[in-house]
Amino acid sequence: MRRKLAAGNWKMNGTGAALGALEAIAAAHPAPSVDILICPPATLLSRAAHALADSAVDLGGQDCHAETSGAHTGDISAAMLADAGARAVILGHSERRADHAETDAQVCAKTRAALEAGLMAVVCIGETLEQREAGQTLDVVCGQLAASLPDGIDGARVVVAYEPVWAIGTGKVPTLEQIAEVHDALRGQLLGRFGAETGSAIRLLYGGSVKPGNAAEIFAVSNVDGALVGGASLNAADFSPIIRALE
Ligand code: G3P
Repeated sequence: MRRKLAAGNWKMNGTGAALGALEAIAAAHPAPSVDILICPPATLLSRAAHALADSAVDLGGQDCHAETSGAHTGDISAAMLADAGARAVILGHSERRADHAETDAQVCAKTRAALEAGLMAVVCIGETLEQREAGQTLDVVCGQLAASLPDGIDGARVVVAYEPVWAIGTGKVPTLEQIAEVHDALRGQLLGRFGAETGSAIRLLYGGSVKPGNAAEIFAVSNVDGALVGGASLNAADFSPIIRALE
């Protein structure tokens, strides 16, 4: 049985003043029946790890480099994230793919690096509006999934987040049937490639305009094991009801 996961991606939001929001989320969920992960900016990781030391909230990074060290100005290795207190890292977010031209092959190399550093990898995939309207959604997301995950993975430490690009930060959400169609296809592909044990251990998150008002119905969809939440993960007032909807 897969344990549900409520994950928050703070993106490029939050300075030290935001630590209070993290503490409020942790305080509201001292003993959750689901996993809670928050990925703040890398600049906050160490302080957040200190603030949340005894809490049930895990911390994650938002990207890592595929190499372990070296001449890569501005980049952060997976081991550095782990050293700063991260247990996980988001990889291949559509904003990284768009803003930094990240390819599936790079995401795959980063995923390998994250797993080798002992982190859980949250690998993001998703179609653009043009691709959905052209009827290419399943081809696109299955192609991204195939090329973004390395062989020989530990399913318990890999999470796949389906985030339609057109649903991110827009208030638009696919129909429940559309979410089910994609998640069922992803599960089928994971089972086919990695076998029953690993393929059924990988958690599948939905992401894109998840809010307190729509979380419960999304969580009831087949093969949805939780959510990767952007804007609504920035404060306890929004994120707590989403966590509770998953419990
Ligand atoms: O990674 C989460 C994100 O892309 C979704 O953002 O603000 O639509 O929940 P948002």
